[in-house]
Amino acid sequence: MENINWSDLSFGYMKTDYNVRCYYRDGKWGELEVSSTDTINIHMAATCLHYGQEAFEGMKAFRGKDGKIRLFRMEDNAKRLQSSCDGIMMPQIPTEKFAEAVIKAVKLNERFIPPYESGASLYIRPLLIGISPQVGVSPAKEYLFIIFVTPVGPYFKAGFQNTNVVIYRQYDRAAPLGTGTYKVGGNYAASLVAGQRAHEEGYAAVLYLDAKEKKYIDECGPANFFGIRGNSYITPESTSILPSITNKSLIEIAKSMGMTIERRRVPEEEIATFEEAGECGTAAVISPIGRVDDPMEGKSYQISKTGKPGPVCTKLYNKLRAIQYGDEPDTFGWITVVE
Ligand code: PLP
Ligand code: COI
Repeated sequence: MENINWSDLSFGYMKTDYNVRCYYRDGKWGELEVSSTDTINIHMAATCLHYGQEAFEGMKAFRGKDGKIRLFRMEDNAKRLQSSCDGIMMPQIPTEKFAEAVIKAVKLNERFIPPYESGASLYIRPLLIGISPQVGVSPAKEYLFIIFVTPVGPYFKAGFQNTNVVIYRQYDRAAPLGTGTYKVGGNYAASLVAGQRAHEEGYAAVLYLDAKEKKYIDECGPANFFGIRGNSYITPESTSILPSITNKSLIEIAKSMGMTIERRRVPEEEIATFEEAGECGTAAVISPIGRVDDPMEGKSYQISKTGKPGPVCTKLYNKLRAIQYGDEPDTFGWITVVE
């Protein structure tokens, strides 16, 4: 693609050549279809528009130095989408169909996969929606699964640099026994007001506390949270956070580096003891956290003493990226090479 400035990409939508679609009707999924339009035509009473029957995923394809295209942990995204489907009463898309659709969407848009040198990647966005009409609150009978792709740069403008996050005690993202563990649109709608305010006040993201006690760290708006203290990688356990595939991967990498993993409830005050902290996710990769503010409590936790990403975050980031781009062997079995 001659006129894309690959190293200047932000995290946004760019029209590509094709998207892949699949309809669920009469109790079964149909064949994959390829479309070159980026709009959909659906019933105005579709359940996705009224009752939030919408789930999505986020994953990436990477172009290696060797020219190969690598997908990261595709099966985990398929499984999580299935779990989200269960959570809001939509039919699961089978893993094989999910994988077939991802690979098709990537191959058809190969010219949009950023070159290795740019440090950018191709973001893959699968979504699944209820499309048949329902006026009473109940699940749709028909569904549409779509995968589109778009080339992206860093989610946070700074890239791999420290960002500050904020705790707003007046907002919750997800209830303790609600839909926080599912990747469904409603959770993101619930986070828009706080997210916008955070940006206006100069923060990269909101750091949510558990909604019940407002005592323990949950996660950030678009990413999981971890802290580093000594040789420990510490990350919250909660019934209202998304099981991040990046976090799960960092846990494996940290273990392989001989670190101790602590997955448990993490009280807010513990932030004061962290030598490093970060947000992690497909879009965010690792965004090291410099400072956490809790304005309502008049507290501020200065984590970074240097203004630069710490050594552990840097090591984890480099290792993860090296596996994703194929610079290092994939000893964990996370990569699918697109042939
Ligand atoms: N938490 C939330 C709320 C997210 O939206 C995401 C993004 O997908 C994550 C965490 C990170 O998950 P993953 O690492 O699977 O992308
Ligand atoms: C991702 O990391 O893939 C996300 O979905 C985060 C955000 C863009 C919603």
